[in-house]
Parts: sequence; C-alpha cells; structure tokens
Amino acid sequence: MTHKQLTIVLSLALVAAFAVAARSQTPSTPQQSPQASAPSQDLPKTYLPGLGDFMGRIQTDHAKLWLAGEARNWELAEYQLGELKEVFSDVQDLVPRYQNIPVGEMIDAIITGTITDLENAIATRDFGKFSTAFDDLTTACNSCHQAANRAFIAIRRPTQSNFSNQEFSPAKR
Ligand code: HEC
Repeated sequence: MTHKQLTIVLSLALVAAFAVAARSQTPSTPQQSPQASAPSQDLPKTYLPGLGDFMGRIQTDHAKLWLAGEARNWELAEYQLGELKEVFSDVQDLVPRYQNIPVGEMIDAIITGTITDLENAIATRDFGKFSTAFDDLTTACNSCHQAANRAFIAIRRPTQSNFSNQEFSPAKR
C-alpha cells in the first residue's frame, strides 16, 4: 500500500466513525434557540450555499479540468484547477462539518495531495501524469461520497464535453 492509499484508508476510517456517531444521535428537534433565530429578524437574509451547491460547481470544474488536459490546453487546465481549489477552500471555510462529517479535514486528507500531483503534471505538461493524478482525484471524490453515505453519487472521467459553447483546444498561435 502506498503512503497515499494509506492516508485515504485512515481518513475514511475516521469519517466512518463520525458517520456512525451521527446516525446514533437522537434527531435534533426543529425548535430553534432564541439566539439562533433573533438576528435573522433584523438583518437582511444572506444566501449561504450548502455543500450540494458547492459540489455542483466542483463537478463542473472537475469536468472542465479533464477536457482541458485531454486537449493539452495546459493554460486552461491550470486555470480550472485553480478554480477547483478555490471551491474546496470555500467548503473548508463555510461547511467544515456536514452532518457531523469532518468535511474540511477530509479535503486536506484526501484531496490536497492529488491536487499537488495535478499541479506538477500541468507544470511539466505531462499528460501521462495528468491522467493518473486526475483518476486519483476522482477516486478521492468517490471515497468521500462513500464515507458520507452518498455512494450513489459516482464521479468518473467525462467521456465528452457538455459545454458546446466553450473551446477546449488550445488557441493556435
Ligand atoms: C470531503 C468529502 C467530499 C469530497 C472530497 C467530495 N465530495 Fe462531492 N459530495 C459530498 C457530499 C457529503 C455530498 C452530498 C451533499 C448533500 O447531500 O447536500 C456531495 C455531493 C456531490 C454531488 C451531487 C451534487 C448535486 O446536487 O448534484 C456531486 C456532483 C459531487 N459531490 C461531485 C464531487 C466531485 C467531482 C468531487 C471531487 C473533485 C467531490 N464531489 C468531492 C462530499 C464530498
């Protein structure tokens, strides 16, 4: 087992333990505490995206990252990976825990390493390394979904572009 695989296995064990703890808790009552409800009466409502909203954006960045790399459009791949990192970082800031699952720590444990591999592959314009690192990233997406009782959300390499209004090939110079 490689160090990376071991890290993934260990962090999944951690998450599984949290998931069990979350399920064994008594369901919280819908009643809100006065402190929690009071400010919203005075302040304008602000929209805070939920984890599912962030994931929709992550799905788009994941697909575009592959399409750019496959077309050897390394500038676009670099940009798209930067976007993906930003969204994961927003998740860590805004949804560090989701239903008692330590999403923020999970991202550090299973995503950050694969992103570094992708950055290196893009910097050296190495498609072989890029595709290996991309598949590792995809495996990490799915291992978190499995750990979070969302195994039915199965991510894979895109087989074609869903974005017919965007050119993925590098511009001819
Ligand atoms: C740290 C854990 C974690 C990681 C890592 C993770 N996800 Fe998720 N993802 C979740 C959870 C939890 C949900 C379910 C959210 C909900 O129920 O609202 C989810 C939901 C989704 C959804 C469904 C959203 C929808 O509305 O259709 C997609 C698509 C998705 N993830 C894609 C990805 C991709 C692509 C990656 C990797 C680049 C990834 N996820 C990495 C935890 C994770």
